[in-house]
Amino acid sequence: MKKQLISVNDLSREDIEKIFALSTDVKKNPEKFQNALQGKMFGLIFEKPSTRTWVSFQAGIFSLGGNSIYLGPDDIKLGVREEVKDVARVLNRYLSGVVMRTFYHKTITEFGMYFRQPMINGLSDYQHPCQALADFFTIRERFGEDAKPIVTFVGDGNNVLNSLILLAAKLGGIFRYVTPEKHPPAKKVHEQAMKLAQETGAVIESSHDPVNGVRDADVVYTDVWVSMGQEEERAKKIKDFDGMQVNSELLKKAKKDVAVMHCLPAHRGEEITDEVMEGQNSIVFDQAENRLHVQKAILLHLCSAS
Ligand code: CP
Ligand code: NVA
Repeated sequence: MKKQLISVNDLSREDIEKIFALSTDVKKNPEKFQNALQGKMFGLIFEKPSTRTWVSFQAGIFSLGGNSIYLGPDDIKLGVREEVKDVARVLNRYLSGVVMRTFYHKTITEFGMYFRQPMINGLSDYQHPCQALADFFTIRERFGEDAKPIVTFVGDGNNVLNSLILLAAKLGGIFRYVTPEKHPPAKKVHEQAMKLAQETGAVIESSHDPVNGVRDADVVYTDVWVSMGQEEERAKKIKDFDGMQVNSELLKKAKKDVAVMHCLPAHRGEEITDEVMEGQNSIVFDQAENRLHVQKAILLHLCSAS
């Protein structure tokens, strides 16, 4: 595979299976990999806040024997203090790889044109590939490799949904997404997914009706309605999501033992109720834990690519 994971589109089916197999191994036998990244130094370039992505990458790199430097919004000031392409060419000479979280996807793709080491998108406005990989790993762990659970996303057509749709299409799963008419996922993503589905047998369905969308679902997944960087649109956006909350009433339409997922952070009382977050169907913290194992596997996989 390429040394870069910028979008789910960078992953072949073979890459995904290798990452899942490595994730299982790393999770079961962390000590086996404790020197795998020895002598390697990674940059964690974050333009936005983060708990899971930052901490799990930093802890993960350390547990693989490597080291990392966190570069926050006020440090290198990517594209402000100097051009993205200049930063990329300098860091190329200091680091063994980078994880990047940026406002604009374009920043990551531009960086990637000049950076020659392994590089991972830790969230942009368009994609969150590490999240989607950890999520489908979690789903597979729960339902088994050969099962075809019905996975329904209810919420905003954002970075997380874009990545989930593409990964579901690549894996040949049954994936429904329900968004308000005004907030669909990227058109390009939907088109790519429909094309992929013809090859993989995936069933990708979209609607604006949460009740029908979650009918008989094995997994109901949601994410915030207001993503990082959209704070000014908050009041306007919230109104558009009337009826889209994942609450106990909505879950009655899904399978009885439905698993509830959320990439976190959650805005309790908006896209999901407190009751559902804390309820027995919620697997959000198992899902969050898997970010660590899957990211270690992504690092190992990218660092072994020539
Ligand atoms: N889910 C996720 O990426 O969380 P953070 O924003 O805390 O990294
Ligand atoms: N859609 C959210 C995901 C956070 C992990 C955001 O971009 O803020």
